[in-house]
Amino acid sequence: MRNIGRTVQSSIYRNGVYGHRPAVPTSPDALADAARRRMTSTGWSYVSGGAGAQRTVAANREAFGRYRIVPRQMVDVGERSLATTLLGRPLPAPVLFGPVGALELAVQHQRGGRAAAPRNAEPALARAARDLGLPVVISSQASTPMEDTAAILGDSPRWFQLYWSSDDAVVESFVTRAEASGCEAIVVTLDTHVLGWRTLDLDLGYLPFARAEGIAQYLSDPEFRKLVEARVRGAASSGEATASNRPTVAAVRSLLSMARHHPGPTLRNLTQPYARAAVETFLDVFSRSTLTWADLAWLRERTTLPILVKGIQHPDDARAALDHGADGIIVSNHGGRQIDNAVASLDTLGPVVDAVRAHSGGGTDTGTGAVVPVLFDSGIRTGADVFTALALGADAVLLGRPWVYGLAIAGADGVRAVAEHVLAELDITMALAGVSETGQIGRHNLAL
Ligand SMILES: Cc1cc2nc3c(=O)[nH]c(=O)nc-3n(C[C@H](O)[C@H](O)[C@H](O)COP(=O)(O)O)c2cc1C
Repeated sequence: MRNIGRTVQSSIYRNGVYGHRPAVPTSPDALADAARRRMTSTGWSYVSGGAGAQRTVAANREAFGRYRIVPRQMVDVGERSLATTLLGRPLPAPVLFGPVGALELAVQHQRGGRAAAPRNAEPALARAARDLGLPVVISSQASTPMEDTAAILGDSPRWFQLYWSSDDAVVESFVTRAEASGCEAIVVTLDTHVLGWRTLDLDLGYLPFARAEGIAQYLSDPEFRKLVEARVRGAASSGEATASNRPTVAAVRSLLSMARHHPGPTLRNLTQPYARAAVETFLDVFSRSTLTWADLAWLRERTTLPILVKGIQHPDDARAALDHGADGIIVSNHGGRQIDNAVASLDTLGPVVDAVRAHSGGGTDTGTGAVVPVLFDSGIRTGADVFTALALGADAVLLGRPWVYGLAIAGADGVRAVAEHVLAELDITMALAGVSETGQIGRHNLAL
């Protein structure tokens, strides 16, 4: 991606001459606002919301204001490149599409009933990512089986994000499927073994998974299906009733949603116990709060893929992860969705980078990126934000909510536009800070 800033900027201004404004706004607030207007209140609350009083969501953004970029002049920056290498794979830019679950909410929960099929979400993301060559981190909570997303991605890079289920066989099966789907790394998300106290969703009484939204990886998994069948058999032999509460319109809607998401014809699913049993099984096996660092060895033995741990906010946790077999660190607080009033993710980045570099001898392998990559997310909204994270030592960043907003506004085109806007601003920021390659960005570019 050479001088992408000028290309994107010129195209927007040229279209403006003909009276066309960008369908996907470039300013972060306008982008969020446009998405909010497209989505239902449940969809918007789930995607935009954070934990408790939303203080961590705000802190993630405020933190960027504490690290100021220093402009530099009279440096030849005529030829700029965003290219980098991550885990040995050359990439056009140090930016990935972060894992986002229940993605169908962005396309399905639209105002005015313009409901798209649930499976349209990840395919749209995959098309945009493939066009740009940026990696996708496929979520455990996707609305599309990973094999289908992988097929659209073609040769484009993808990683798999794992929620560590309480059932070993499901974990192994997910990892095996990820390998077969061409994923180049496993991202284990550590910070969500318990769902955060998400007040916006709580006040709407809304959890997507309880309606079978965002559980496509499970519904398509042979090991998970065995658990569902065992549950149905167990309920039948004990004579347990499947319906308990008095039916309401909402309950009927939820049952319909479960039947629609379950593999097979909706009508048949409505008359059989499997769709509902699948949701209950998912809620039982989703996560495991007993995990400790020692468990990472178990996963290490089951895959040859690099393992990155996501959710690191403390240098000691970064060191422990590396001691127990992790190959990379993702500094993240889940976009403020887990602990309210937590430390801003950006404030933890520098100390974690220092710990990782000291731990791995401080080396990089001759221009191909860090030996132990440190990635960052939570609060990235603009290209200047990406620049700041790279300056604090991140090797790459994960985009979160912004591309979901793009998806809600304009499908694959919207995802692509959001990423292009971020990359364009990153390129322009580099030019104005006197930097022509992302690898040259460092703390010297900040007024610390
Ligand atoms: C709607 C939504 C769903 C998410 N689902 C997942 C997920 O399935 N797995 C995961 O590891 N992180 C998930 N995340 C967290 C993101 O990967 C990322 O850490 C976060 O969005 C970064 O914060 P930001 O969006 O404010 O930049 C989700 C975030 C959002 C907003």
